Amino acid sequence: MKTDLLKLLLILKPFLLFIFLSLSIFAFLSLKTPHQTLQKTATTTPPEKLPSDLKIRPGYSSYDAYLQRQLNKTLNPKLREIWTTRDWDRKVKVFSEFFESLKQRDLLFNGSKSLCIGARVGQEVAALKRVGVNNSVGIDLVPYPPLVLKGDFHHQPFDDETFDFEFSNVFDHALYPWKFVGEIERTLKRGGICVLHVLLSRRADKYSANDLYSVKPLEELFKNSELMEIRSIDGFGLDTEVVFRKNKN
Ligand SMILES: C[S@@+](CC[C@H](N)C(=O)[O-])C[C@H]1O[C@@H](n2cnc3c(N)ncnc32)[C@H](O)[C@@H]1O
Repeated sequence: MKTDLLKLLLILKPFLLFIFLSLSIFAFLSLKTPHQTLQKTATTTPPEKLPSDLKIRPGYSSYDAYLQRQLNKTLNPKLREIWTTRDWDRKVKVFSEFFESLKQRDLLFNGSKSLCIGARVGQEVAALKRVGVNNSVGIDLVPYPPLVLKGDFHHQPFDDETFDFEFSNVFDHALYPWKFVGEIERTLKRGGICVLHVLLSRRADKYSANDLYSVKPLEELFKNSELMEIRSIDGFGLDTEVVFRKNKN
């Protein structure tokens, strides 16, 4: 009986080994690519004192509730149809003008490896490519390949110091603005540029998670960067362009 069992184990040994190795490789790969799935938590610890001109909207019972609210709009099939057809050309044109202007001010170059944060269907990524910045990609909770990858801006799915340039017009959608900015400073290369389009003159829309009333809180949150420029814009309901450069050392 014992020898039968031993024989059986010997026969099964290659299969058992195969299963063990497959499981190990699977576990290793899952650990290596955490960005393929959205993390359901984000660092909730705010800085010691939140700047007074920045208010987090109350009413999100959990991080899941926040994500769900964002997804409700972004996944709406009728809106997605409009964003990818009727709205497409107009938005790509306006974004292209913003990016062209940044190129003229030597803040963006054809060779800049670029990220658009909260890019939805990727009109801003298409615009970057249109003005010659070809190495560009976006992230959003909902992917729209090949322009937009799946990624939460509270936990960007990229290594430290990956990008030369990051653009976002969704600061108001951050439930944890200090995380939003911390992730930008983490993934920007030293000397890299971050351009934010924000709304200062009134409360942002009903999907916003925070309200910003001046540039001061941004200056406080961008701890490792220098404020380069502030200018008025007319950008899809947003009124101010703010440019930061990450410190070189
Ligand atoms: C007002 S839309 C802006 C879309 C795009 N930038 C544009 O101008 O057309 C806000 C976008 O932010 C995305 N978003 C919200 N919370 C996010 C998060 N935590 N991580 C990544 N994207 C998020 C939403 O899914 C939505 O597509």
